[in-house]
Amino acid sequence: MSSHPEATKKLLSADLQKMKDDGEKISMITAYSYPQGLIVDQAGIDIILVGDSLGMVELGYDDTVPVTMDEMVMHTKSVMRAVKRAHVVGDLPFMSYNISTEQAVANAGIIYKDGGADSVKAEGGQDYAKVAAAITRAGIPFFAHIGLTPQTAAMLGGFKVQGKSIDAAKAVLDDALAMQDAGAFAIILEAIPQQLAAIITEKLTIPTVGIGAGPSCAGQVLVLHDMVGLFKRFTPKFVKVYADMYTAQLDAVSSFINEVKEVKFPGEEHCFNMKQDQVEELKKALGV
Ligand code: KIV
Repeated sequence: MSSHPEATKKLLSADLQKMKDDGEKISMITAYSYPQGLIVDQAGIDIILVGDSLGMVELGYDDTVPVTMDEMVMHTKSVMRAVKRAHVVGDLPFMSYNISTEQAVANAGIIYKDGGADSVKAEGGQDYAKVAAAITRAGIPFFAHIGLTPQTAAMLGGFKVQGKSIDAAKAVLDDALAMQDAGAFAIILEAIPQQLAAIITEKLTIPTVGIGAGPSCAGQVLVLHDMVGLFKRFTPKFVKVYADMYTAQLDAVSSFINEVKEVKFPGEEHCFNMKQDQVEELKKALGV
């Protein structure tokens, strides 16, 4: 249950920084719809990411590459209608920020203004520092994402742990520092050795949020569908599965089908009634 059940004030980047400074771990999860937003906000999550993982877990694409701005805006709006307390981050999909800084700021503006997100996120390290700085300069809080960056996984040799060699680890640290210098207020560290994540968390002032980056990060994020057992295609090593909602929903729908076939549903309690004399009158009028 929520540790903040009565809270309705929106969490801002400053509140998340205070949590890190006070040593309170930050919880973050994805959500893509109004009911998912209601559930995770009611549970007391600190940050909701309307992630482009949407493409895989909700829209059935093979990866996140095909996700469009229109899809991100629609799903961000759905989540925003539900959420009262959590800080909502809207993801910038692939090719919405990769062409030019101007394009990146314009699309960040759409997620922020039309989608209504509290901040925006994009993948990338030093190469995207100018983009992060321009978005921040435009007045839009920016959440960075480094390490394994799923949109460009093909360039990284697939979905592999990043920063394993000394040189690669230094490059991940440089990415993190570049993003902080560019004005990012927080940063996701995905699929890097926990020892490297601990060093980065120590060196940065902004909060690190880990996914496959060990317990030293200032916070942890998981994809909702992974942790409630709704996405069965594959489960990365860093996921802990807390429930089997796929089987729960499968069982519920199977029971419904059986009860329809066996005329057990609807029961008397699900039906509307006419008075007996009205039934007789109706039958007489219709000649049945
Ligand atoms: O889109 C997403 O869900 C993400 C998480 C993996 C952090 O970026």
